[in-house]
Amino acid sequence: MGTKLYIKTYGCQMNEYDSDKTVDILKEKKGVELTNDVKDADIILLNTCSIRDKAESKVYSELGRLNKLKEKNPNLKIGVGGCVATQEGSNIKKRAPYVDLIYGPQTLHRVSDLLDIDPNKGIKAIDITFPIEEKFDSLPKPTIGGPSSYVAIMEGCSKYCSFCVVPYTRGDEVSRKPEQIFDEVARLAEQGVCEITFLGQNVNSYKMPYKDRILRLSDLIEITSHIDGIERIRYTTSHPLDMTDDLIEAYQYIPQLVSQLHLPVQSGSNKILEKMKRNYTIDIFHDAVQRIKSFRPDLRVSSDFIVGFPGESHDDFMETMDLVNEIEFDSSFSFIYSKRPGTPASKLEDMTPLEEKKERLNTLQDRLNHFHRNHSKSMVGSIQRCLVTGIAKKRSDQLQARTECNRVVNFDLENIGFIGKLVDIEITEALSYSLLGTLHNPRGKI
Ligand code: SAH
Ligand code: F3S
Repeated sequence: MGTKLYIKTYGCQMNEYDSDKTVDILKEKKGVELTNDVKDADIILLNTCSIRDKAESKVYSELGRLNKLKEKNPNLKIGVGGCVATQEGSNIKKRAPYVDLIYGPQTLHRVSDLLDIDPNKGIKAIDITFPIEEKFDSLPKPTIGGPSSYVAIMEGCSKYCSFCVVPYTRGDEVSRKPEQIFDEVARLAEQGVCEITFLGQNVNSYKMPYKDRILRLSDLIEITSHIDGIERIRYTTSHPLDMTDDLIEAYQYIPQLVSQLHLPVQSGSNKILEKMKRNYTIDIFHDAVQRIKSFRPDLRVSSDFIVGFPGESHDDFMETMDLVNEIEFDSSFSFIYSKRPGTPASKLEDMTPLEEKKERLNTLQDRLNHFHRNHSKSMVGSIQRCLVTGIAKKRSDQLQARTECNRVVNFDLENIGFIGKLVDIEITEALSYSLLGTLHNPRGKI
């Protein structure tokens, strides 16, 4: 029987991506098999996140539970990866000495070597450095799990927003070589992937020399749009400051680029944006959205918001609400500010009581949900181009597809032959978190 690996992932899409790559690497190098049952595992990896909350204490309590398994099975290997690993480093060994290996987001390609280190030789299996280029060079060839795939194009972040740990846990920004990106996309397309999402902390600051010029995100999108089989291109996450003219104009001439944009704004108050060190004003944000809308009137914009940042007054918060009402954001994420150790904002005086922050979050989320529902309702009766991704998760008698704005649409299972294809679906009903529909033109493209 092969070695069984259990991996638990916390946090963002980048962490999901990193976990998938860790599994691929360990399959290739150690022949491991994945298990969903933690009690059955020979190797347990926690891919942690430290963006908010009491992430560290959650990890330590999880480790305490896992130690009980180790007492029963001394051969069990336990590893801690991700951003908490970078932040805590060898402290983890002090508080949880039974942990066998500690690796960061940029050293997951070395996990196989770390697992081989003999603890009796006194060498600590800890590697939380930032060899990002080596990580990109070491990623295994992509294996596909459906018609849609992420492609990492950059790593880390150099924006240093005053509240955020990412630049410290993932390191400064490094762009991936264009050759590697195009090769990966072409390989995925050959295997039937038709939708790709360019992934990174700040994809629109991508910059790399290629042949005799410098490529930006808009160039990657343009070149990728000519790769046979690629019908939809998305990217996440982007920064308002890097919405440059070339990227905005890409919406005019690249039909594969979807009319959906996730553009984190954080706050509607210029005063708070400055304290957050976001380096743009609300006018700049509006301008970018309006210019894209001039090419794509149907553009849906989603965003990330933080409420209760130190010094946010009621009036500042109302400016965020004004912005939400003006842009009518689609499916968005919103959080109460969480003080992160080592960040500049953690030193700012924070006078707003938690109860008030919770109220602000509720008010904001109610409004965001209102627009989300309105958008869904406005789609009833329309024909939407959708990518059929597989059998519905909660209803095995239905298929699941995704609209261009990334809403889930469930429709009749008898169209199973369309899995992996783009089809036209007439939307018949809007539910809270998904849509129902029927295939519009069954003799359409298959
Ligand atoms: N560009 C990054 C953003 C990383 S964090 C990306 O890959 O998505 C995602 C979101 O978490 C941020 O946009 C922000 O809204 C939120 N966030 C980050 N640090 C936070 C903190 N200290 N407290 C509350 N929310 C935070
Ligand atoms: Fe964090 Fe700001 Fe970068 S939110 S990931 S430092 S753009």
